[in-house]
Parts: sequence; C-alpha cells; structure tokens
Amino acid sequence: MRIGVISADSASESRVALTPDAVKKLLKLGFEVVIQSGAGQASYYADELYQAAGADIANSSAEVVTQSQIITTVNDLPPAATEHLTSGQVVIGMLDPYRNSQLDTYAAKGATVFAMELLPRTLSRAQNMDVLSSQANLAGYKAVLLAANEYSRPFPMFMTSAGTVKPAKVVILGVGVAGLQAIATAKRLGAVVEASDLRPTAREQVESLGGKWLDVPMSAEEAETAKSTGGYAWTPSEQYVKDQAAVVDKALSNADIVITTAQIPGRQAPRLVHQATLAKMKAGSVLIDMAAGTGGNVEGSVPDETVTTPNGVRIVGAANIPSMLAAQSSDLYANNLVNFITTLIAPAATDDASAKTLALNLDMNDEIQGALAVTHDHQVRLAKR
Ligand code: NAI
Repeated sequence: MRIGVISADSASESRVALTPDAVKKLLKLGFEVVIQSGAGQASYYADELYQAAGADIANSSAEVVTQSQIITTVNDLPPAATEHLTSGQVVIGMLDPYRNSQLDTYAAKGATVFAMELLPRTLSRAQNMDVLSSQANLAGYKAVLLAANEYSRPFPMFMTSAGTVKPAKVVILGVGVAGLQAIATAKRLGAVVEASDLRPTAREQVESLGGKWLDVPMSAEEAETAKSTGGYAWTPSEQYVKDQAAVVDKALSNADIVITTAQIPGRQAPRLVHQATLAKMKAGSVLIDMAAGTGGNVEGSVPDETVTTPNGVRIVGAANIPSMLAAQSSDLYANNLVNFITTLIAPAATDDASAKTLALNLDMNDEIQGALAVTHDHQVRLAKR
C-alpha cells in the first residue's frame, strides 16, 4: 500500500507531513511512500534524504494522489490535488474542519478524510496521535522567544555596576498545552509570570511551574459547569466575562509581555484583551496573539502582522508559530501521523518486515476513526458547531 506526501503551500507553511525517519518506519511496516518533490525542503529535509530512506519522488501533487491510497498533508489539500481523488482513497491532515470549503468535494469524490484536530483528547491510546498537543507545545515555547525578540529589554533580572535590571513581567492568558509551555519557557528565561484560564484546574499547573494565578471570580453554578466539562473550556456568563476583563485590565497595565493562547475548536477565539486595556499598557510592551488565525484574542491583532498601537504597544499576530519551528514540528507531526496510520491497517501493522500485504480497515465505529472522519462513504460526517 502506497502513502503519499503532498507539499504544503510554501508561502504560508514550512512543515511537511512525513519526515525521512517516518518514511523508514512506514517502509518497515510494509508500506511504500511517495513524496512530492520539494515537500520537505522548508523543514530541511531534501528529496535526497527521502530517497535515501527508501521513498520515491513525484513531480506534482496530482502524481502523488494518483499513485497513493493514503495521502498525507499538513493543511488542506490544494484543489489541484483534490481534483484527482477517487473513491476509496484516504486523506489525513490538519484540515481545519469547521472552516474547510472542500468537504462537499471530498464527499462527492468518495474519499475518507481524517481531520487530525478532532482527536478525542482524553483517550489514552490516542495521546501519541495528538497533533494539537505536539504542535501547541512547540508553539508555546517559540511564542516566548518571539516576545523576547520584540521586547527592548531583557527577561531576567541583572545586577550590574550600572544599575539593577528588573525582570520582565509576563502574563499568559489561556493555559492549555501552549500556555503551560509558555509559562515554563518564560520562567526559564527569568521572567515573573502571571497566568489565567477559565478552567479552575489550571491553577495548580500554573503554580507548580512557579507562576502566579490570576483569579477570576466564578459563581457556584459556573464552578459546577467547569467541573462537569471534564477540564475543557466552557461558555462563560456575561458576569464572568466582565470580571475577567477587569482582572486582565489590571494585570496588563503592569505587564511587559502578554501571550494569549485561548481558542475554542470550531468557533471564533474569545476576545480577551480590549482597546481600553491596550491603551493603558506601557510603550514597548509586546503582545503575542496565538489565536490571531482564528479571530484573535487581542482587539486589533492581524494574522501574520505586527501592529503598533498609538501608545507604542506592539501586537504580534502569530497565526502559525509551529511553522517557524518546521524541522521539529514536522518530526512530531509525522510521528503522530505514523501512529494513526498504523491503526488504519488490518491486521494491525507490526514490525514484521514481511507484512507486505496491508489492507485498509476503515471502521467508523472505532472511537478514534469515527471522531476524525469528516467525510466517508460519500457523506460529510462533521457535526455543525
Ligand atoms: P486550546 O488551544 O483549545 O485553548 C487554550 C486554553 O485557553 C485552554 O486552556 C482553554 O481553557 C483556554 N480558554 C479558552 N477560552 C478561554 C476564555 N474565554 N478565557 C480564558 N481562557 C480560555 O487548549 P488546548 O491546549 O488544546 O487544551 C484544551 C484542553 O485539553 C485542556 O483542558 C487540556 O488540559 C486538555 N488536554 C488534554 C489532554 C489529554 O488528556 N491527553 C491532552 C491535551 C490537552
């Protein structure tokens, strides 16, 4: 069975779906692999490395699609590739399912399309396929470095003969995978860190990393909802949003660096920082809006641009930070894909190099496949948000 790798649009994406190491693992399991020429170039994986690993090289996305049963990609397929899909093929990628305009076409073509973002997060056997976590972890780290680069003072405290340098004050809003890594990274750089999230369980994690928890008052009913949503974001009341804005306003008035990470799958990102608060911030302070690509946590942020407010605050609209660490994020993404692909095969692929006769075992009753499949059997399966 052949697995293909489609090259991403190099203007907006530097990652690649499979790396030479992933190719070696797949070959060992009995697959063949074909790579679109240049697909790994921006992640520092040249065609020659793929060839040395045992992959074939194809000249176009159309060639990859026509030669492969399983097609892997970082983002959505380019329409030039989609057009060549035929019934029974499988597509796997981070397809931004709720904003994907090709779902009807995928269904019409009869392809089974898996959107990796829809993975059930709490299923322990799925953790090694969790692309949101693998990418967000790296993004949280890099966001702090981006901020440090934009900021015109250092992060750590320095005692020098010319005077004492105060540590930077960093505020992190949204403490999921990216936010926790951002706290750890900012602490390692010597900053003083405060953080908030609407999940009360995040408090312990923030404190265990040496951060200070910014508490937003919560009604008894909300505390109950927060518990029953199993640790995921819930829809806050108007009162909570108002109280949160006051807490954020106070913290940001004294902050040097702000990193916002709050996203809600399938919906517009919540607005956490408003103009009135930005106007109170210090000149030279820096905000990194990691939700800029899905509507923005910070008022006025623009994806992939740095905006400077009239009072000298810089807002970095960081739409795709994992792509800035393309070599490492591709390694982890490829591992996630290999782990998922292994579960699509019957009998389960083993380390037995003689297992050359692999067959697809698509099963929409399987809790992982069923959750990820956005099209199957000529139907769009994605529930509307
Ligand atoms: P995310 O990228 O969807 O959002 C980042 C953070 O922003 C989350 O912590 C969320 O609670 C917070 N947030 C959303 N709306 C907010 C608002 N209005 N105000 C303040 N904060 C807001 O989150 P991520 O990193 O994908 O994690 C989501 C959940 O999944 C977390 O509870 C995390 O612990 C859990 N998780 C569980 C895993 C597992 O059990 N294997 C693996 C990874 C994540």
